[in-house]
Amino acid sequence: MMATVDIEIPTPARERKRNLLDFADWSVAEVQALFETADVMAQVLTRTIKKVPALQGFTVGTLFFEDSTRTRLSFERAARAQSADVISFAAGGSSLSKGESLKDTLQTIDQMQADLYVVRHPAAGAPSQIARWTDAAIVNAGDGRRAHPTQALLDAYTFRQRFPGFDDFRGKRLAIVGDVMHSRVARSNVELWRKLGGEVVLCGPPTLLPPQVAPGVHRSHRLAEALEGAHAVMTLRLQHERMASSLLPSLAEYVARYQLTERALAGAHPEALVMHPGPLNRDVEIATEIADGPRSVIHAQVANGVPVRMAVLYTLLVGKR
Ligand code: CP
Repeated sequence: MMATVDIEIPTPARERKRNLLDFADWSVAEVQALFETADVMAQVLTRTIKKVPALQGFTVGTLFFEDSTRTRLSFERAARAQSADVISFAAGGSSLSKGESLKDTLQTIDQMQADLYVVRHPAAGAPSQIARWTDAAIVNAGDGRRAHPTQALLDAYTFRQRFPGFDDFRGKRLAIVGDVMHSRVARSNVELWRKLGGEVVLCGPPTLLPPQVAPGVHRSHRLAEALEGAHAVMTLRLQHERMASSLLPSLAEYVARYQLTERALAGAHPEALVMHPGPLNRDVEIATEIADGPRSVIHAQVANGVPVRMAVLYTLLVGKR
């Protein structure tokens, strides 16, 4: 008589239908579990062979309707490090230029049976719309000025890594400085940081700050006031591609008032981290000596993008949220 063995067959991703569009339906416990998964993935990436078979047999599609360096490469690295297959679409060079619609483009790509799509699009809400046209899981890799959740996850993960010994964000203050109005990174960081219990202060000229902010979020037009006691300072570039018109009377005046310099940082927490989601415009929103200085974790943010995105792919495709 043949011996029987129990084989756990994972539910196909297309039946699980899990998305990361923003943090609205993510609990604190789920975010913390994701960080713990990222810790395991980071350990994998220190090995000689930086690869595990966790996602063998799965296909991840990266669909980028807008340019990217960090997000796209780190998602592709994150998928391959778990042995997933990767298919890539970039708007430039595609049949969009021949008049193909977004829906037809998506439904064409979808015939190749990816299990999860990582989507970046200049229009807010496009990843949610795409989620209604496919059974594959969707990760929002940035939609207009609305959300960029995996950037916020890797930012918070970097903060958690550099301020060891604390298990929540209560009493920790993040100052976000610059073009907050047009920034999906700022919106997702505010959403996640507040969910984790931290304080957020937004700083910039009136034309670059949202008129209304969520409860518990502060606004300031004065850099020194915003940075006072901050545990992390995140600077943002001017996102000209999302500005309908010029919102600054003078770039020189903006640089004089809002550039992150050694002098400006003096009032922050003594161990304050300097963060930037990239790409940087050196000596505009951040002085070169600060970007390359000892408090900067800008390169660590990019490096942490890989284990954090490995954790996102793993969690959505086979793990338990
Ligand atoms: N931070 C970020 O989203 O960078 P990329 O545009 O290079 O992906």
